[in-house]
Amino acid sequence: MNKEVVLLNEVKSFGTRSEEFFPLAWYKEMLDNQPVYYHEPTKTWNVFKYNDVKEVLSNYEYFSSEGAKTTIPVGASNKEGSIPDKVNVNFVDPPDHRKRRSLLSAAFTPRSLKNWEPQIQRIASELVDEIKEKDTVDIVQSFAAPLPSLVIAELFGVPIKDRDQFKHWVDIIFQPYTEENAKEVEEKKQIAAKEYYQYLYPIVAEKRINLTDDIISDLIRSEVDGEQFTDDEIVRVTMALLGAGVETTGHMLANTFYSLLYDDSSLYEELRNDLELVPQAVEEMLRYRFQISKRDRTVTQDNNLLGVNLKKGDLVIAWMSAANMDEAIFEDPFTLNIHRENNKRHMTFGKGPHFCLGAPLARLELKIALKTFLTQFSKIEPTESFQLEENLVESAAGQSLKQLPLKLHS
Ligand code: HEM
Repeated sequence: MNKEVVLLNEVKSFGTRSEEFFPLAWYKEMLDNQPVYYHEPTKTWNVFKYNDVKEVLSNYEYFSSEGAKTTIPVGASNKEGSIPDKVNVNFVDPPDHRKRRSLLSAAFTPRSLKNWEPQIQRIASELVDEIKEKDTVDIVQSFAAPLPSLVIAELFGVPIKDRDQFKHWVDIIFQPYTEENAKEVEEKKQIAAKEYYQYLYPIVAEKRINLTDDIISDLIRSEVDGEQFTDDEIVRVTMALLGAGVETTGHMLANTFYSLLYDDSSLYEELRNDLELVPQAVEEMLRYRFQISKRDRTVTQDNNLLGVNLKKGDLVIAWMSAANMDEAIFEDPFTLNIHRENNKRHMTFGKGPHFCLGAPLARLELKIALKTFLTQFSKIEPTESFQLEENLVESAAGQSLKQLPLKLHS
């Protein structure tokens, strides 16, 4: 289903890239003064407080994922680039959602997660090995960005020799666009989606004959109420997984390094001295430094659940990253504190029936990546010339670091 896309930068346009990258001042203003706010030009309701965001994401009888509009930048709109309704988990409510999600869940069991650990570890170690002799590196291009796409290519079972090409397609298919360049970007996306489709289809067909131990094979085996995925659906499902899991995880990893350099320069040493702290550091980074988590829903029937008169058909945007800064839930929320007891309550992975299916994988990647890096390098330092504003780029997910140079000490 092709939906009308409401561009988020029309809902809130920030003065600078850096402000958008870390919009805490705006979140504070909205949380304090306009926690449920109607934006007339885009005709959207915007919701910031933790409990309101939770309501919007969880109460699917009133707030549906099936509306005609969305704020999620989608892949390409040709056949190869779009997700067939039968397998699209994003834009459907329970009860139909349950079956589609169950079909996908076959590839995300705790057992798979355990099997993936050594593969992720090997990829993280190889990337660290490649930079260990250097004095200065761009951590985004050498570590944070490649890691999730290499991991997913490996978990799909894509041959190693094709991984650069694979990453290239992913970059194009999920490239964001503005009103001005929409047509040009869409054409490129369609070509990349077609090439990707033609590349992956024979791999899926081959795996159907020789099932192995990877995500594609798990999707082939998956069966719910007598239904299974066809080869065509599997290729298109993998595209949805790439869209959901590559840029998000890379963005989080890059921001974690930014935070270690610029939010609290003592934290790197603290973590290195006690690697057991890494899981809680990852959670706090997800709460504090993942500033692009927001999702929309459409009102299904008139209601007053958020304290305002919502009408059937209204689009509501739930700003999860703002909810992560709600003082009613998190003490001193605008401070990074890895020792915060409830930091796992963040809503970066969503809430309710659509809670991120890949959250355990993302958490595992982030933990392994960080531990592997901490074990190798005794210290990291910022470079003098780095200017945040010049090193941000608009991505599907929002403002992201395109590079982050840092000095390494082994
Ligand atoms: C830091 C990394 C990630 C973040 C912040 C993130 C965030 C989210 C959020 C907020 C949702 C909820 C959408 C909604 O409520 O409409 C979601 C859903 C989803 N995510 Fe993630 N995600 C991440 C990584 C991943 C990974 C690695 C994968 C898999 C490879 C993945 C697969 C999915 C899928 C399939 C859904 C749809 C679930 C459904 O609608 O039932 N995500 N993610």
